[in-house]
Parts: sequence; C-alpha cells; structure tokens
Amino acid sequence: MTKADKTQVGQLFDSISEHYDFLNHFLSFNIDKKWRRKAIKELSIGKDLVLDVATGTCDLAIEIINQKKANHIIGIDLSKGMLDKGQEKIDRLNLSEIITLKQENCLNLSFEDNSFDAVVVAFGVRNFSDLLKGLKEINRVLKPNGEFIVLEFSKPKYSIISFFYNLYLNKILPLIGRLFSKHIYAYTYLPNTINEFVYGKKFIEKLSEAGFQNSTYKELTFGVATIYKAFKL
Ligand SMILES: C[S@@+](CC[C@H](N)C(=O)[O-])C[C@H]1O[C@@H](n2cnc3c(N)ncnc32)[C@H](O)[C@@H]1O
Repeated sequence: MTKADKTQVGQLFDSISEHYDFLNHFLSFNIDKKWRRKAIKELSIGKDLVLDVATGTCDLAIEIINQKKANHIIGIDLSKGMLDKGQEKIDRLNLSEIITLKQENCLNLSFEDNSFDAVVVAFGVRNFSDLLKGLKEINRVLKPNGEFIVLEFSKPKYSIISFFYNLYLNKILPLIGRLFSKHIYAYTYLPNTINEFVYGKKFIEKLSEAGFQNSTYKELTFGVATIYKAFKL
C-alpha cells in the first residue's frame, strides 16, 4: 500500500482497531502511556477547545482531561473502527459532554479558520499521505498564538541502541503484531512508516514551512519517540 491512499489507511486502522490498545501497550512495554503523559504536560493550562488529530482510541484526548488542561476536546480520525473504540471509552468514563468525536481527514478539515486554542496529535502525523498539507491544515484551524503538540516515533541516535531497536521494530514487532491481530500487513506498515518518517530538525523544518514558529523538540527514551511543540504565528 502506498501512503497516498487515505481510504486504505482508514481501512488498515479499522482492521486492527479491536486489538490496537492491547498491542500498543504490550509492544511498547506500556511506555506509550508515559509518552502521552509527557506530551500533554507540555500543553499549557486554561485551554477552552482543543483538537486531537488522529485521535484513534482517544488515549491522548483522555490524558488532556486527566491533566485538566482543557474544557472541551474534539477528536477526529479517518477510521470509524478506531473512533468506535474511543467512543466506548468516553462513554465508560462519562466524558461524552467533554470529548466529541468526528470522522474526518486531517488533510481536509471541516472546521473554520482559527477555531482551536490548541491542536495535539500522537502517532498520527507519520501516517498523513501528504505531511505538509496536513500540517498546513492544522495551522489553518489553530488560533493565532495557539499551541501545537506532536508526539511521534523517531529513531535512536546511539548505534548500540539503534541496533536492538531496529531488530525489534523490523523483525520482532511485525511477528507479534501479526500473531495477535491476524493482520498480515498492518504490523509491517508500522515499521515502514517509522523508518521513512522525517524527525528531529527535519520535522522542525516542515513545521516552519507549514507556518509554525518557535518550534522545539524533546527526545524521549533514547530518541525512540519525540515531542514537538510549536506555535501559530
Ligand atoms: C497509530 S494511530 C494513533 C492513535 C492515537 N492518537 C494514539 O495515540 O494511540 C494513528 C491514527 O491516525 C489516523 N489517521 C491517519 N491518517 C489520518 C488522516 N489523514 N486524518 C485523520 N486521521 C488519520 C488513523 O486512522 C489512526 O487511527
């Protein structure tokens, strides 16, 4: 599958939505939860409306509420299957007045210009079929001076860590993913998107190109993931 096919990305996540949370936590040894907590710590308090792009099963949106950073959140995602799983969690936690979900493509959002106080996205941007278009669209819906937080996979710098990481990412993870999800392709797609994605300074350049300023980044867990923070001009 080429990244260009947005329908297929949605269908791929539909097909793994049932196992997504379990596999996410299992394959990352639960570190993903800590990374989301750290990403939301970067968001300043007192936000009224926040957009969670590629919200999936809504863990990042729920973390915003746990840290009392916003009054309302809209979560959007291409995949109906992922959103259904997220909605189950929201209902269980009684958060349906606070978190609203919509099936949308981030490359073509339905929201007016300057709608949100902040936009967040975890493990979503590397799936965009057109990264720059997605970032520009996020910039468009963000209010001036609004905050943009991105949590995304990156690649470790140190060669010894890099060796074991690549072994895990390219060989072990697809095997376990396939075993549990019974989906032949999905857990090969994941390492491919991580291997191909621009991270660190190169991602900061993309943020500037899309109209963001004062962009900074922090590496997590030897550089396996990175948090980016940027502002709209
Ligand atoms: C790896 S999941 C991340 C889900 C969630 N944010 C998390 O932290 O677990 C990636 C999600 O991005 C969504 N996605 C990919 N491309 C998208 C796009 N162009 N617009 C909206 N959602 C998209 C997929 O459907 C999927 O649910």
